[in-house]
Amino acid sequence: MTTASFPEHSTGADWQRAYDPKSVKWNFYDRDVIPMWVADMDMPVAPVIAEAVARRVHDSRVAYPVRGRTPLVEAILGRLATRHGLAGLEHDHAIFLSCVPGLHATARALTTPGEAIVVQTPLYGPFLDAIATARVTRQDNPLVRGTDHQYEIDFDHLEATVTPATRVLMFCNPHNPSGRVWRRAELETVADFVLRHRLWLVTDELHNELVHDGPYIPFASISPEIAQRTITLTGPAKTFNTAGLSIGIMVSHNRELLNRVRAVTHGLVQEYPNVAAEAAWLAAITTPEADAWHRETLAMIGANRDRLTRFLAEHAPAVGYAPSQGTYLGWLDVRAYPWAEHPADYLKAHAKVGLSDGTSYGPAGAGHVRLNYATYPDILEEALARLAPHLAL
Ligand SMILES: Cc1ncc(COP(=O)(O)O)c(C=O)c1O
Repeated sequence: MTTASFPEHSTGADWQRAYDPKSVKWNFYDRDVIPMWVADMDMPVAPVIAEAVARRVHDSRVAYPVRGRTPLVEAILGRLATRHGLAGLEHDHAIFLSCVPGLHATARALTTPGEAIVVQTPLYGPFLDAIATARVTRQDNPLVRGTDHQYEIDFDHLEATVTPATRVLMFCNPHNPSGRVWRRAELETVADFVLRHRLWLVTDELHNELVHDGPYIPFASISPEIAQRTITLTGPAKTFNTAGLSIGIMVSHNRELLNRVRAVTHGLVQEYPNVAAEAAWLAAITTPEADAWHRETLAMIGANRDRLTRFLAEHAPAVGYAPSQGTYLGWLDVRAYPWAEHPADYLKAHAKVGLSDGTSYGPAGAGHVRLNYATYPDILEEALARLAPHLAL
């Protein structure tokens, strides 16, 4: 049933076994389309996380939680310091807020309408929405392709883009949709730009533990000066596949800066976490079982990335592509194809694979699709078999 319309290209994989009746990923397209769009994994959450949530609810301990220096806050800040070198954060340098609300809150708190925010595009759509909703001007500094097709920041264009109205630089590391993991030299150059122009830096580091070619370097760890101008957003949603639990954290070494954001979220967003999500995140970052799950999952994703890279080299030489250094997202430049104007629509209709269209990442994303390969290898194989005849040229 699953692949009846494509017998000639099917691998025979039982790809519908990953069907999740409760997820948007699996219920957005028709049932004959393999969904490889929204950034959720097909793999179930680590059992130890599911058990932690169940235990918390089963114990009937769902009252308003303790605040301040809780085990979860200690664990998050400890992990940022010891694993990633982001030291010096105290418990009152943090606000629980998932990342998209964090983008909106910071855009509004750090600007007034008519001012400007600069971004590197293409970029995860909610950044663009947050800027529009804050009624500020968006200044795009399109990323450029290096010789190996990997995106690079155009620093000359960045200098030419900034104006006296610019207040904030919003950044994404690892970068969605391209999967770039920014190197220290790149971060230092952006930091220098931010400091010279006296901007604020908002950096979304939600994919920070999905890194294949690292290291991931937290932007705020670059220098004490940049830390004072930076708000970092992160959370467990991508690393541990817990997006539906809606939890994240906003941290900054600059309490005053956090208080400006607090003034926007005050009364709209609770400062304490949802207790089920709190239990999940604590289990995710404090148990060896979750650590093992993370390592295995990252290995599977890395192997999928390599498979996608080989597939494109062998079967789709006209696709512009560089392997993701982080995330589980492949960013495919399909401008060489006759159907490039609406590539996701075309591939959904003709290959029955559901991808994200590049235009949702800003004008620089036109003629691209984003492919989420956080799935089982045989499901990826089935999707690639379906795509192959359309990418052959
Ligand atoms: C870069 C980035 N930021 C934020 C989000 C969503 O974050 P949240 O669910 O915490 O609002 C995503 C989801 O894919 C993402 O890729």
